[in-house]
Amino acid sequence: MRQLISNDIYYVGASDRKISLFENYIPLNYGVSYNSYLILDEKTCLLDTVDESKSTYFFKKVAETLNDRELDYLVVLHMEPDHCALINELLLRYPNTKVISNSQVFKMIKQFFNLDIKNQIVVKEGDTIKLGKHELKFIAAPMVHWPEVMFCYDTYSKTLFSADAFGSFGALSGNLFYDEVKDDNYFNEARRYYTNIVGKYGANVCNVYNKIKDLDIKMIMPLHSYLWRKDFNLLIDKYLKWATYTPEDKEVVIIYASMYGNTEEVACRLADILANKGLKNIKVYDCSKVDETVLIAEIFRVSHIVLASPTYNLAIYPKMHSLLQGLINLGVKNRTFALIENGTWAANSNKLISEELSKLKNTTIISNKVSIKSSYNVCDEQSLENLASSLVEDMKKEA
Ligand SMILES: Cc1cc2nc3c(=O)[nH]c(=O)nc-3n(C[C@H](O)[C@H](O)[C@H](O)COP(=O)(O)O)c2cc1C
Ligand SMILES: [Fe+2]
Ligand SMILES: [Fe+2]
Repeated sequence: MRQLISNDIYYVGASDRKISLFENYIPLNYGVSYNSYLILDEKTCLLDTVDESKSTYFFKKVAETLNDRELDYLVVLHMEPDHCALINELLLRYPNTKVISNSQVFKMIKQFFNLDIKNQIVVKEGDTIKLGKHELKFIAAPMVHWPEVMFCYDTYSKTLFSADAFGSFGALSGNLFYDEVKDDNYFNEARRYYTNIVGKYGANVCNVYNKIKDLDIKMIMPLHSYLWRKDFNLLIDKYLKWATYTPEDKEVVIIYASMYGNTEEVACRLADILANKGLKNIKVYDCSKVDETVLIAEIFRVSHIVLASPTYNLAIYPKMHSLLQGLINLGVKNRTFALIENGTWAANSNKLISEELSKLKNTTIISNKVSIKSSYNVCDEQSLENLASSLVEDMKKEA
């Protein structure tokens, strides 16, 4: 069976529902798709391969779609193994295929597969390859998500093949286009995908966006998740917010660490006080229970974050510390934090967390901090109330 998308472009990708950890650390509840596209023009051209786990299905689809035609070209847009793993095998099956990509990709092919490709066509920014009616124009997209990444724009179908950009977690279930499904969870997963995978490279995403923003785009075909042919603004608006580290929602997320429930109680009391003050959609998360990739996505989403942590061996509680390292590594900025610490003999986590947060650009820490001694006591009520009032005041400020 052939899966025609449009204008002689066929889908030959596959979805993986068995995988539990993407890149062996990011939990996947809804699987992931590895998209691959085959254009049947005067020349036939495959754009990227798929993860090794989907090899059998992928090669069957490629063969069925080619229907006895030769494979003239393979375009490689990204060398992460979830897309490039089958290059070697593909060239064994289709030895006359010419590989089109940039010089960095060919260097990586040598590194990954110890393979010198004889039939190679080296392209750079702005170069074009004609397949017949279709003409592919290459656009460098360095660090979205690796240095060798390219986009490619088909001037005939006006399709942007966007590599990992505009992708998401989540398997595809027959319907390829976002406008064909009701997937309420899509943007949560797309955010989690973007922030944890590409989140560090917002400046690079903005650079490549400036290169594509004036193109006449009718379809976007990423390497993961749904394809797009309308409502691009939904996707682009989110992407620009994420890439510029701009909060989407003026809301509060409270993330606590707690071994014995005392810090948890304080975090929950704060949520109740904030709700009493009229705040909506407050979220409370236990950083030992909720995966760090979810917390990072939530921190990208909102404007105000409360971190509540026990002092632990004179340091920050390990899970909270790990989250902070994640934020620093991703270059999160433009956020307001509020802090609560707990300590029984030498409370110190507010100071230590403040030092970590000072590594984030354009980040404010609300000056009222709360320090609990072992457990919540009525005498803590006022300081919690003060913190809540400061948060609410701060949220009234213009972004
Ligand atoms: C392994 C361990 C290490 C701790 N280290 C410190 C510390 O360095 N300084 C301190 O003041 N309290 C320390 N505490 C005490 C906790 O901060 C205190 O028990 C706090 O109430 C924990 O809050 P929770 O009930 O939310 O888990 C430690 C507790 C544990 C279990
Ligand atoms: Fe990637
Ligand atoms: Fe990918």
